[in-house]
Amino acid sequence: MRTQVGIVGAGPAGLILAQLLHLAGIESVILENRSREYVEHRVRAGLLEQGTVDLLTEIGAGERLKEEALEHHGIYLQFDGRREYIAATEITGRSIHIYGQQEIVKDLIAQRLGYDGPLLFEVDDVAVHDFDKHGEPRITYTHEGRQQRLECDVIAGCDGFHGVCRPAIPKGVLTTYQREYPFAWLGILAEVAPSTDELIYAHHPNGFALHSMRSSTVSRLYLQVKPDEQIEYWSDKRIWAELQTRFALAGWTLQEGPVIEKGITPMRSFVTEPMQSGRLYLAGDAAHIVPPTGAKGLNLAAQDVRVLAEALVAWYSTGDTAQLDGYSDRALRRVWRVQDFSHYMTTLLHRLGDDPFDDRLQRARLEYVTSSDAAAKSLAENYVGLPEY
Ligand code: FAD
Ligand code: DHB
Repeated sequence: MRTQVGIVGAGPAGLILAQLLHLAGIESVILENRSREYVEHRVRAGLLEQGTVDLLTEIGAGERLKEEALEHHGIYLQFDGRREYIAATEITGRSIHIYGQQEIVKDLIAQRLGYDGPLLFEVDDVAVHDFDKHGEPRITYTHEGRQQRLECDVIAGCDGFHGVCRPAIPKGVLTTYQREYPFAWLGILAEVAPSTDELIYAHHPNGFALHSMRSSTVSRLYLQVKPDEQIEYWSDKRIWAELQTRFALAGWTLQEGPVIEKGITPMRSFVTEPMQSGRLYLAGDAAHIVPPTGAKGLNLAAQDVRVLAEALVAWYSTGDTAQLDGYSDRALRRVWRVQDFSHYMTTLLHRLGDDPFDDRLQRARLEYVTSSDAAAKSLAENYVGLPEY
C-alpha cells in the first residue's frame, strides 16, 4: 500500500492531522493499535481552549461539540478556606469549553469513516523504517493476521508517550528534558450533577483537588495522591471523604454520587527536541507531556498538528521544504510556553512536600494572583490559550 502521509496513532493528534490533510487534498492512512471501542471510551482530558474549539469547528468536527459542550468563563481558586474567581473571559475576551476527549475522538472517527478515509484499528507490530532525508519511508505492521507494508512520503508519529516512533529515532538526534513530580492524580467520573458552575482548583494542606465536570449530570473530580498510590486502597467512600475535606467551604456542599470510572495518572513534564528526524515528524504526547494541572495536553496536541499540516500543505503545493524544516522550532515555542504554565499551575496548587516554607510561598502566590489584575491576567491568558503562539 502507498499513501502520502502515514500516521501512527488515532488519538486527537493523528485524527485531527488526517482531517486537516484530507481538507487540503492530501492522502493519509492512520494505523492504531487499539480497538475503536477502546479509543472511544478512554477517559482523559476535558477542557478545550478557544483555539481548539475553533480548529475542530473549522475542520467540520464541531457540530456535536457546539450542541453539548459547556462554555466556561473562568475558574475558581480555593485556598485558606476561601474561594476566589479568576474571570478569564472578562480579562481575555476568550472562553473555554468542557467536552470529553473521547467525545472528540468519537466525532473525528465518525467523520473519517464517513468519507471512507483509511483508518485501521487493532494493528500490531507497528515499526517505522528508512525515514532519513534521502530514504524511502515505510511503516510495517500486522493487521488481521497478515504482515503489511505502507510506503509513504512522510511519517507522522502521533502515537502518544509510549508509542514506537520516538524510540525509532537514531541515538544522538534527540535531547530530552524532563521532570517527575512526587505525586500523581486520582481521577473519578461520578454520576452526580456538578456542585459548581465552573471548575474549582483547590490548594489544601492534604493536597490538591480539582472539581471538573462532563455534563449537567456527570462530575469529574481529581485528588493529588502519592506517586506510587494503588487504586485498590481508595474505596469510593474514602475518595468522597477526602474530596469533602479538601473542598470544604462554609455554606457550600459537595454532592456525592456513584463512581463510574476511576484511575491514577502519573505526573511528569517531558519534552523532546527536535520534534522531527528526517521525514518522521512527532506530534502531541509522542513529543511532550505536561502535568495536567493547566489542562493543556490535548490542546497542545491539536496545535502541533495544525502547524504540521500547514507545513505539509506548503511542501506538497510548492515543493519548498522550509516550513517542514522549521516545524519543530515553531511547535516548540508553544510547547515551552505551555510547559512553563503547566509547571506554574502544578507548583502553585499541589502540596509539594513537608517544608512549610513552600506552603507559605504558595499561599502568597495564590493571594497575589487573586488580588492583582496583572497577575490574574497572566494566569487567565495562559489558561484560555495564547493565540499568537
Ligand atoms: P494519545 O491520545 O495518547 O494518542 C496516541 C494514540 O496512539 C493512541 O490511540 C494509542 O493507542 C496509539 N498508539 C500508541 N502506540 C501505538 C503503536 N505502537 N501503534 C499504533 N498506535 C499506537 N490531559 C489533560 O489536559 N487533562 C487530563 O485530565 C488528562 N488526563 C490524562 C490521563 C491519562 C491516563 C493520560 C495518558 C493522559 C491524560 N491527559 C490529560 C493528556 C491528554 O489526554 C493527552 O495530552 C492527549 O491524549 C494527547 O493526544 P495525542 O493524540 O498526542 O496522544
Ligand atoms: C480537566 C482536567 C484537567 O487537567 C484540568 O486542569 C481541568 C479539567 C478535566 O478532565 O475535566
